[in-house]
Amino acid sequence: MRLANKVAVITGAASGIGLATAEKFAAEGATVIVCDLNQAGVDAAVAAITEKGGKADGYIVDVTNKDQINTMRDAVLAKHSRIDVLVNNAGIVMDAQLVKMTEEQFDKVVDINLKGTYNMARALVDTMVEQGSGVILNASSVVGVYGNFGQTNYAATKFGVIGFVKTWSRELGKKGIRVNAVCPGFVATPILKSMPEKVLADMANKVPMKRLAEPSEIANVYAFLASDEASYINGAALEVTGGLTL
Ligand SMILES: NC(=O)c1ccc[n+]([C@@H]2O[C@H](COP(=O)([O-])OP(=O)(O)OC[C@H]3O[C@@H](n4cnc5c(N)ncnc54)[C@H](O)[C@@H]3O)[C@@H](O)[C@H]2O)c1
Repeated sequence: MRLANKVAVITGAASGIGLATAEKFAAEGATVIVCDLNQAGVDAAVAAITEKGGKADGYIVDVTNKDQINTMRDAVLAKHSRIDVLVNNAGIVMDAQLVKMTEEQFDKVVDINLKGTYNMARALVDTMVEQGSGVILNASSVVGVYGNFGQTNYAATKFGVIGFVKTWSRELGKKGIRVNAVCPGFVATPILKSMPEKVLADMANKVPMKRLAEPSEIANVYAFLASDEASYINGAALEVTGGLTL
């Protein structure tokens, strides 16, 4: 098992890619710290993992809430004494073209996707530095490399996440910490529910493989990047798009 004895904190782990990643990490032997917004979602994710024999603890963590983040970190350290992996997966969309975007839409997406990623890394980095090891993985997107119609706010956050990765990997590499981003194409999860069926069908049609990704196909990439098999991958923004951008 590639993640045996590793303690992995995953945000937004109650749904979609985060849930698939939590399940994959647990199957690879990690103790998974499931972080999400509500108790029911967290409990369901923990139950799904433990029913299959995996190890998981659940915490309510809104990535915009520093008190909740610090409470989770302190509890995890008290119980497990280490944090090996952080997957900054939590993210939302609130799409609108520039001419229609409201300040609330802009601020909320930036607060969760960008500042939330910073909040989590800032809160956990000291632990990784003290350990002399750690992996920080961050959810960017193909939209964080190429932009997308109607996604001014989301694109800015996903470009920003790659900026974090390029900066943190320079700062933390010598301290034994690797930092990378994953840039998925379009993945069949609840985040796409606001997109019209026709847009999704067109999107799938643009992919040479003629389909969206499954959440497990992104989870597999996170698991590889979190494992020691990826020991020389640092500062990368890995596109996992089925060839969408070719
Ligand atoms: N689905 C896609 O096509 C796609 C493509 C590229 C990148 N991504 C990125 O992958 C990540 C996961 O997306 P998904 O498709 O699985 O979405 P999803 O909506 O299925 O899951 C997102 C999870 O994040 C949680 N969340 C939302 N706000 C939060 C907050 N403030 N604090 C903590 N948790 C919060 C939600 O409760 C939910 O469980 C996001 O960062 C998204 O931008 C998704």
